[in-house]
Amino acid sequence: MAVDDSDNPKNDAQGRIVPAHVAVIMDGNGRWAKSRALPRHAGHRAGVKSVRQIVELAAKRGVSCLTLFAFSSENWRRPAEEVSRLMGLFLEALQREVNDLHRNNVRVEFIGSRDQLQADLLKKILAAEEKTKDNDGLRLMVAVAYGGRWDIVNAAKSLATKALDGKISVDDLDDELFATELALHELPDPDLLIRTGGEQRISNFLLWNLAYAELWFSECLWPDFGEKQFDEALAFFASRQRRYGFTGDQVA
Ligand code: IPE
Ligand code: IPE
Ligand code: MG
Repeated sequence: MAVDDSDNPKNDAQGRIVPAHVAVIMDGNGRWAKSRALPRHAGHRAGVKSVRQIVELAAKRGVSCLTLFAFSSENWRRPAEEVSRLMGLFLEALQREVNDLHRNNVRVEFIGSRDQLQADLLKKILAAEEKTKDNDGLRLMVAVAYGGRWDIVNAAKSLATKALDGKISVDDLDDELFATELALHELPDPDLLIRTGGEQRISNFLLWNLAYAELWFSECLWPDFGEKQFDEALAFFASRQRRYGFTGDQVA
């Protein structure tokens, strides 16, 4: 989707503009656990509670799409025990939450490479996507085994195949056509990126789609992230002037 497609921006009760699409890098679970002398997986478990709360809040505040970074393509490099705990936690959370999500009219989908996912998790993912596919409330995108470079390479491969098959010509290729092959192809670009945990980097998240996102970094560790922090991020967003290359006077 083109960068200036700001899907009918909504306003909140105070008349402030609400981001249509919020993307979140949920970082800091390990440090949260470490500071309590707990194993890292206890931090991931605590992080699931924040996920639940943020999904509810996003819908309440009028956000249309929420994309959560749960596991990156680089996170496979972590110790096998942590990876296995994380996959187990995804499975458990999905099992537990899918009915509630469905009841709340949430449409849940997963983005990322499915090649390395275990069969039982993949089965639950497909079932959750199928069950919620006709819901027209919040669109919840969960990025698991996702990498921004993987996404772009995937799109390039698909376009190259189409060109070789004569379905498109190389001259047709522009950013709009390219974006149709990306994992988030049906959604507007994220308006706001939130990263918790104090790092100020993208860590191979939505490299293409974040082109014009407003970036909000918080020292708060993900398990401590809640309503106060989410509303701070929304207030920050509402205070930004988005220019997309124009001058301030042009967009005022
Ligand atoms: C984010 O928390 C969750 C995942 C990457 C799966 P971390 O596990 O990266 O937590 P820190 O950064 O080590 O504190
Ligand atoms: C980014 O966090 C990935 C997720 C939150 C899922 P990381 O903890 O993996 O990022 P780096 O390694 O510190 O950049
Ligand atoms: Mg981290």
